[in-house]
Amino acid sequence: MADLDANPTHNHPSNTSENFGYHCLSGKVSWKSPSNIAIVKYWGKKPGQLPMNPSLSMTLNEAYTETQVQFAHIGRDKGSLTFLYEGKEKPEFLPKIQQFFEKIAGDYPFLADFQLIIDSRNTFPHSTGIASSASSMSALALCLAEMKSLCMQPFANTEAFMREASRIARIGSGSACRSLYAGWTSWGASEYLEDASDYHGTAVRAIHPVFTEMCDSILIVSALRKKVSSSDGHALMNQHPYAEERFNHAGRQHAKLLQILANGDMEGFIELTESEALALHAMMMTSQPSYLLLEPESLRIIQEIRAFRAETGIPVCFTLDAGPNVHVLYPQKEKNIIINKLFHNRIQKEFPSLAIIHDSIGSGPQKLN
Ligand code: PMV
Repeated sequence: MADLDANPTHNHPSNTSENFGYHCLSGKVSWKSPSNIAIVKYWGKKPGQLPMNPSLSMTLNEAYTETQVQFAHIGRDKGSLTFLYEGKEKPEFLPKIQQFFEKIAGDYPFLADFQLIIDSRNTFPHSTGIASSASSMSALALCLAEMKSLCMQPFANTEAFMREASRIARIGSGSACRSLYAGWTSWGASEYLEDASDYHGTAVRAIHPVFTEMCDSILIVSALRKKVSSSDGHALMNQHPYAEERFNHAGRQHAKLLQILANGDMEGFIELTESEALALHAMMMTSQPSYLLLEPESLRIIQEIRAFRAETGIPVCFTLDAGPNVHVLYPQKEKNIIINKLFHNRIQKEFPSLAIIHDSIGSGPQKLN
């Protein structure tokens, strides 16, 4: 990441009455930030967008959002917000962004004095089972944190900057706070990980080499908008009959996954990953009212993956997000065999029109010029 404390593309006027106390009155900040896929799932939250249990995810590489924020000082409380998606105004996206700005207004009061033009683009289509809120909210959070560092005060170091970006990304969308780090990231208080917090993500650094080159191929069963939003799903956990046991169990799963990742226990990883995916959907199926996001095709694909693994011994498993699409996880060295023998010869024979997006473990956000 570039050194934010020495960014040559911005004005740094001295602190005179003309600059209203800001170190910078106009400029442009731009970040690229990836999505992530959770292995231990965050499902259920407390006020302030704090998680009921710790979660742990893999940062993706190909699925990312690029966001640019242009800012110009306009005067006390005279600020405005324009949101462009791929260069075009998208008023339907504005309410979510405005809500986010309202939530961070206490920490970022200076935003109200600036005209802001946010321009964003994704490398992947919406509603494909890739969490676009994770990449878009983390990219926007990085831009706003950089703007804070330019206009108000630089952060002490890169780590403090990333932590702040993770904290405000969380306020936009909980899972977004895990997109700020490369590889494997945890979010939520845990006694088993140093610096773990409910307020921001934490990079998991004790990773065995077998887990440093994982692939995630996403089988798109349906690209339709979710029948029940994630916010409504989280809310249903408030009166869920199994909530307490789920939160305790997820805490234990999180602790176990930290060990599995450190030890290189692929068998343990497969078992835990699939059990977590099904537990997430079990919560949906047993909430009141209950709902089902899986489609018959999702189950057929899951059965094919399990049968293929049993027959070949190849370490491949599935996980699910809050939707019917199936994320297939496997080590990079198995990619050819998975594409030919599992996808092409088996799954796509049954579902010839199935779209597949190939992704893999990624190196985290990047500052753009
Ligand atoms: O970040 P949210 O509020 O969209 O919730 C995401 C929840 C899951 O994607 C289902 C699980 C997770 O931990 O990412």
